[in-house]
Amino acid sequence: DKITLSVIKADVGSISGHYMPHPDQLAAATKVLSEAKQKGLLIDFYVTHVGDDIQLIMTHTKGPDHPDIHGLAWDAFQAATKVAKELKLYAAGQDLLSDAFSGNVRGLGPGVAELEMEERKAEPVITFHADKTEPGAFNLPMYRIFADPFNTAGLVIDPRMHAGFVFEVFDVYEGKSVLLKTPEESYDLLALIGTPGRYIVRRVYRKEDNLLAAVVSVERLNLVAGQYVGKDDPVAIVRAQSGLPAVGEILEAFAFPHLVAGWMRGSHHGPLVPVSMRYARVTRFDGPPRVLALGWNISKGRLIGPADLFDDVAFDETRRLALQIAEYMRRHGPFMPHRLGPEEMEYTTLPEVLERLKNRFVKTEEVKVVKRHSEMLSGEHD
Ligand code: 13P
Ligand code: 13P
Ligand code: MG
Ligand code: MG
Ligand code: MG
Repeated sequence: DKITLSVIKADVGSISGHYMPHPDQLAAATKVLSEAKQKGLLIDFYVTHVGDDIQLIMTHTKGPDHPDIHGLAWDAFQAATKVAKELKLYAAGQDLLSDAFSGNVRGLGPGVAELEMEERKAEPVITFHADKTEPGAFNLPMYRIFADPFNTAGLVIDPRMHAGFVFEVFDVYEGKSVLLKTPEESYDLLALIGTPGRYIVRRVYRKEDNLLAAVVSVERLNLVAGQYVGKDDPVAIVRAQSGLPAVGEILEAFAFPHLVAGWMRGSHHGPLVPVSMRYARVTRFDGPPRVLALGWNISKGRLIGPADLFDDVAFDETRRLALQIAEYMRRHGPFMPHRLGPEEMEYTTLPEVLERLKNRFVKTEEVKVVKRHSEMLSGEHD
């Protein structure tokens, strides 16, 4: 039987501000999933968090987008929301944008990455879990993992990777995807995914045999809700070794703490900091944005792990650089490029500010002849 690894996540409330879930929330979600495991719906599962986002990592044989699995995740998030309300945690039920579940959590708020696989002789997989950022945050590392030989030696050395990979890029505004091949269409690919707020690397296939190697959650909450409801805080699944990038090649792509959108109020650029589970909680300016990497081996659907892969001195210099960048960016205060650009601010308070000032904008020539300063302040010059 094919095994499906489903990573479904949501923020349903946090201790303190947007810091991390309360242990009782994780326990409530765990209870729901362990009942499903007893009934045989799940083969295995693991519940954890990054920042304030609860992560459900599940294996089963139902395939992606299955109503039973999505319904189960929905129930687990509802249970954790109930705890959040009871404890008066902050933003209880934050990412559950709908009251009614209708067979699939996509479009309802939770983020979803699901990968169906024929288990190989050894099946090493890494799940990535990010907080205070958006799905496009994975664009740069995905490119480096699967298309950049300066990151991934295997692209040059391993005959099974030599033909390259195919990227599915999803346009979140149009709801359409395009398949682009690397290395031959690398520049087209980069032209798109360099705009990570719009074009998101959604899936990566090995060209040789179309094996699905990586999946990223593409849900963008603000676009779903039409207003600001926190950041998407995406997840990704990447398979490793044996004709795919090695675990170390996959992790190498995170050794450079690139700037991503998110952080405070989802409205600022900051460095993506690779962290261990111990530091999977956010503080400074509600961040900085961070990513957790969990290593697994899947054996007949059982989840062997996790290995807390960024819990290593090898990433200390990355973190040090990231914190310097965080300091540098913070000093810009409310100025771009620390604050996001106007297109991205559309879902926050910017439209409201513009609406309020609408009548107070005058043509430059008029400014010269405006009689009194007070007229400009009141907008009465119209
Ligand atoms: P080993 O010889 O330790 O298996 O290493 C192979 C490899 O994939 C290193 O990247
Ligand atoms: P989250 O999406 O992690 O809840 O972040 C919300 C926020 O506004 C942080 O400042
Ligand atoms: Mg939150
Ligand atoms: Mg979050
Ligand atoms: Mg969020």
